[in-house]
Amino acid sequence: MSPRPPRAAKPIPFPAVHRDIRHDSAPLHVAGTARYVDDMPDAAGLLHVALGQSEKAHARILSIDLSTVRAYPGVVAVLTAADIPGMNDVGPVVPDDPIFAENLVEYVGQCLFAVAAETRHAARAAARLAKVEYEELPAIISIADARAADSHILPPKRVERGDPDGALASAPHSLSGTLAMGGQDHFYLEGQISMATPGEDGDMHILCSTQHPSEVQHLVARALGRPDHNVVVEVRRMGGGFGGKETQASLFAACAALVADRTGRPAKLRLDRDDDMVMTGKRHDFEVAYKAGFDDAGRILALDITLESRCGMSTDLSGAINDRAIFHADNCYFLPNVRITSYRYKTHTVSNTAFRGFGGPQGMLAIEGVVDDIAQHLGLDPLAVRRVNFYGGPGRDVTPFGMKVEDFIADSLFDRLEASSHYQARRTAIAAFNAASPVLKRGIACTPVKFGISFTTSFLNQAGALVHVYTDGSVLLNHGGTEMGQGLYTKVSQVVADVFGIGLDRVRISATRTDKVPNTSATAASAGADLNGMASFNAARTIRDRLAVFQAARWGVAPGDLSFANGFVTAGDKAISFEDLTRQAYLARVSLSATGFYATPKIDVDKETLIGRPFYYFAYGAAVSEVVIDTLTGETKLLGVDILHDCGTSLNPVLDRGQVEGAYIQGMGWLTMEELVFDAAGRLRTHAPSTYKIPGCGDVPDHFKVDLINQPNREETIHRSKAVGEPPFMLAISAYHAIKHAVAASGGTGAVKLDAPATPERVLVAVRARRGLMP
Ligand code: MTE
Ligand code: HPA
Ligand code: MOS
Repeated sequence: MSPRPPRAAKPIPFPAVHRDIRHDSAPLHVAGTARYVDDMPDAAGLLHVALGQSEKAHARILSIDLSTVRAYPGVVAVLTAADIPGMNDVGPVVPDDPIFAENLVEYVGQCLFAVAAETRHAARAAARLAKVEYEELPAIISIADARAADSHILPPKRVERGDPDGALASAPHSLSGTLAMGGQDHFYLEGQISMATPGEDGDMHILCSTQHPSEVQHLVARALGRPDHNVVVEVRRMGGGFGGKETQASLFAACAALVADRTGRPAKLRLDRDDDMVMTGKRHDFEVAYKAGFDDAGRILALDITLESRCGMSTDLSGAINDRAIFHADNCYFLPNVRITSYRYKTHTVSNTAFRGFGGPQGMLAIEGVVDDIAQHLGLDPLAVRRVNFYGGPGRDVTPFGMKVEDFIADSLFDRLEASSHYQARRTAIAAFNAASPVLKRGIACTPVKFGISFTTSFLNQAGALVHVYTDGSVLLNHGGTEMGQGLYTKVSQVVADVFGIGLDRVRISATRTDKVPNTSATAASAGADLNGMASFNAARTIRDRLAVFQAARWGVAPGDLSFANGFVTAGDKAISFEDLTRQAYLARVSLSATGFYATPKIDVDKETLIGRPFYYFAYGAAVSEVVIDTLTGETKLLGVDILHDCGTSLNPVLDRGQVEGAYIQGMGWLTMEELVFDAAGRLRTHAPSTYKIPGCGDVPDHFKVDLINQPNREETIHRSKAVGEPPFMLAISAYHAIKHAVAASGGTGAVKLDAPATPERVLVAVRARRGLMP
């Protein structure tokens, strides 16, 4: 089908915010005309790049013979570490991520060299022909291996308050337990890809699927040995990022740029799906161990909890991710005496990275496991035990890291959801069902979410924007945020349309580019709309203020008397269309272009002790999930989900609802079906959809009710909205606990031992253990 431009959208009325407005690219997504990097027409002379990979998890490289690679028909260039003019590294925080391994390899799939060829097929075929001689070294693969070898990528961190040991000793009840949770592949629809085009005099233009154009720019410039100003990175959209493109696009951008620089020809590197899964980092898998002391009602008096994570071969974002795990190991619960210890292990596996929630889900699953174990141990409804542990008023409102919880609403979300989901009646019905059903068992769980909004690396909480108004009254918007499907472009356009009082059809947003807005942060930490919305608001306000001053003088009124709405600027009975005003202002030599900037206020946290206020505010949610399990096969099915989620006063409820639904299902995939298996040699055995199962549309429950509470953020965010990208991911913890509830109903007493993901195998083992059938 020949791509046709979509028909002009109907003018969208003012006000543009707090409205259900479809994603700006929705018609293009549906028509297949939204352009991703691989859809760009091939430039003349385009080379295709493929990468040679390590076959060993940990080994010294004794020699690499690339002669057969070079001789393969169509191969134009082969690059190794010796061919890098600048620095052989793309580490985002610490320089420990070589582009091309030189003497040492530290994971299976590590990049050794790049091949550029006339066709993708030739490049990929040639890349497999290298002859590499290795001297194998002992490989640390699992968390257990790393613990035994005392192998750390970063020093451990600890947050402690009160007297956990004393309170444990004196508590009426105590319990200890462990929980292992798996990692997760991002499985973005569009894999990692970059296309580099060399320009004149050392310039390099890169189309890249990245959440962090500025970082790609910087790391590519450093590899090329050039200043940042020579490199432009451009991103119109990603086919999903989910954190997997927060840091890990740089390696592929650098390889494409190195080839383009060396050959003087444009170069594209698109990973094959299997290679993408093998070569890129994932969610960190964690092992948790805890000791808890509590009273008869299940109220936690003492908690000593240890979080151990597999970081992989390099630092990447593991520091901030594990910090965020610590910051979420309280979730909604006041922990008077607490010790949280975090170990960040170095392993000879691919370097794990950001993934929706960024350590938060791991910390939260840990504490939710503790609370559930306590409830099962005491024979209480877990919902009741959750409730007695909630943050409360003075004396129960400070997190382990010293931040006062001022905006707590999980208790009222729980009350509302318990009623609207008919939780108690369903629990009773489930008990009756289970009593009469020996094979199928049902379970239900209600869990809360409190997620901290702001980058925990405080300096990243800044954003810039650039707004142009043309003399026909149309507006072109650019900001540092990237679009990965979450609807950021739409939301920020709404904000700008609202400032000028014009329809959304008058605002066009252009691709994110490092030469338009510089020094940006990754679009991450769910803060995209908070940061870029406010920066764009500020830019638009600057222009609006100039227009107001200009027009007020013409009318002899005060600038504050003007109102911008419905495409007109008015004061009393005077009116001028926005379009006419921009033309008049231009003729009077008023600047119609402005930059805007925003830095999040109030945040302040000590990098070492983690004490302080890392977050501007918290986003909340609660979910009830009901499941049925088959105790003979371990299969599970999600029957129903009821969600109540907090988006503040939503900028765009329909987009936020999409985020909540998608995040829940992605979280459910993490906890119930997606399983990463590394063998003892460090090879990922689940590197394709044939062996790695993500949820499909058939896994969405028939009953899937999502309600947003429409309550303003108490902090001054853009239109009092709240971030929504990551928080609802953790609503899926309710599905996992519903499975545990069903397992508990299959026999036995006390806490249920079930690691995540709760695959059929694990559920079956857990059921058989409850029934005394395991050896
Ligand atoms: N939604 C879609 N459709 N695709 C994505 O890749 N990434 C998630 C979330 N929602 C993602 C998504 C992650 S990990 C984050 S941090 C936020 O979107 C980033 O965007 P925001 O800050 O604009 O919410
Ligand atoms: N979230 C996402 N990315 C980050 C963060 C965070 O809290 N800190 C540093 N990078
Ligand atoms: Mo999201 S994990 O912060 O990119």
